[in-house]
Order: sequence, then C-alpha cells, then structure tokens
Amino acid sequence: MKTLVKYLANIVMMICVLPFFLSYKIKGLFVGEDRAFALLSQTFSILPGLTGEYARKEIYRLTLNECASDCTISFGTIFSHSDCSIKEGVYIGANCMIGKVDIGKDVLIGSNVDILSGKHQHSIGDTEVTIRFQKGEFKKIKIGEDAWIGNHSVIMDEIGKGCIIGAGSVVTQPIGDYSIVAGNPAKIIRKRV
Ligand SMILES: CC(C)(COP(=O)(O)OP(=O)(O)OC[C@H]1O[C@@H](n2cnc3c(N)ncnc32)[C@H](O)[C@@H]1OP(=O)(O)O)[C@@H](O)C(=O)NCCC(=O)NCCS
Repeated sequence: MKTLVKYLANIVMMICVLPFFLSYKIKGLFVGEDRAFALLSQTFSILPGLTGEYARKEIYRLTLNECASDCTISFGTIFSHSDCSIKEGVYIGANCMIGKVDIGKDVLIGSNVDILSGKHQHSIGDTEVTIRFQKGEFKKIKIGEDAWIGNHSVIMDEIGKGCIIGAGSVVTQPIGDYSIVAGNPAKIIRKRV
C-alpha cells in the first residue's frame, strides 16, 4: 500500500513539475541552458517539507544525467550544473551546494556540504590577466557508493566507496576506498577494513 501511494505521489508530482521543465527548456533557448538550470534549481530548493522533496526528485529526474526515483534532496540544496548523476538510495541534506558530480548508490551527504567541480575553476598562472578572465577547468567529482559525508565538508576531489568524511573536512586529494578522514586538509584517521 505504502509503495503504491509513493508511486502515485511520484506520478502526480511529475505532472506538477512538467510546466517548470518546459519553461526551463524555453528559457534555455534565450539565456543559455546553464543560467536556466541555475534558476530552476534555486526555485526548487526553497520548496519546504515532503512536497519539496518529491518536487526536487521529479525535476532532477527530468534534468540531471541520472536521478534515482528513491533519492532524497533536502531543502536549500542547489545544483550548479545539470551534468550530475545520483544513484539509488542517496540522501542529500539541507543547504548543500553541488557542482558536477556522480554520486554512487546509498551515499549519505550531511547538511551544508559543498561539492565543488574540482579546485581549478579559475586558472591563476598569469598575473597579467585578472583571475576572473582566466579560463579554468571544471572536473566532475566521483563519490563511491556507501560513502558518508559529514556536515559542513568541502569536497574538491574523488571519494572512494565506503569512505567516511568527518564533519568540517576539506577534501583536496582523492580518498581511497573505506578510508575515514577528517580535518583541513582531510587526512586519514584510520581505514574501515
Ligand atoms: C569522522 C567521525 C565518523 C569519526 O568518528 P570516530 O570514529 O568516533 O572518531 P574519534 O572520535 O575516535 O576520533 C578519532 C580522531 O579523529 C579526530 N576527529 C574525529 N572527527 C573529526 C572531525 N570531524 N574533524 C577533525 N578531527 C576529527 C578526533 O579528534 C580524534 O583525534 P585524536 O585521536 O587526536 O584524539 C565523526 O567524528 C564525524 O565527523 N561524524 C560526522 C557527523 C556528522 O556530520 N553528522 C551529520 C550528518 S549525518
């Protein structure tokens, strides 16, 4: 019964978000897909409660590369690129800022987590050119399945499967599978296996 109710709620919500999806596609023709997506993500981020969770899930199923039907994306969380995938069982807490990322199965992400598209969005090599005019690189970050990322972490590199990222960590280097890391920069406390 519960499964049927959830299934119907997903269908109703999919119908409700369709006009927003169409409007995003039309806006994209005029202002570019990236800007239209930013507006869409900001708009959906402020929908409260369970309705908000269902609405975000359905709009991201239509706009991200992949978004599992059973994931949770909490209030205040904003995606800056649609080039993302979210697998089954993923939970993303409140007020996260998310760049280009592939999030594996059953990953738990706390609140106020920043996942950056790498760490070189602006090049800094040329001191004759202002940083904002130097072309950078947007790297897609991979987060392995069953990882747990603590509140207020900043993620700038790959995280292996089964990793635990302590609250407030700043990840600047790839983290191997089943590592528990903490601190700034994040260092291994111990391994889970
Ligand atoms: C990473 C974590 C799971 C480690 O827990 P633990 O295995 O019990 O670790 P311990 O408390 O034994 O700590 C081991 C060492 O790491 C340090 N440490 C633990 N977490 C830390 C953190 N987030 N930042 C910096 N150092 C940390 C401890 O101070 C301790 O250092 P010491 O050996 O010099 O005394 C936990 O501290 C954590 O950050 N959990 C995330 C909680 C969270 O964000 N929840 C909300 C989202 S669901």
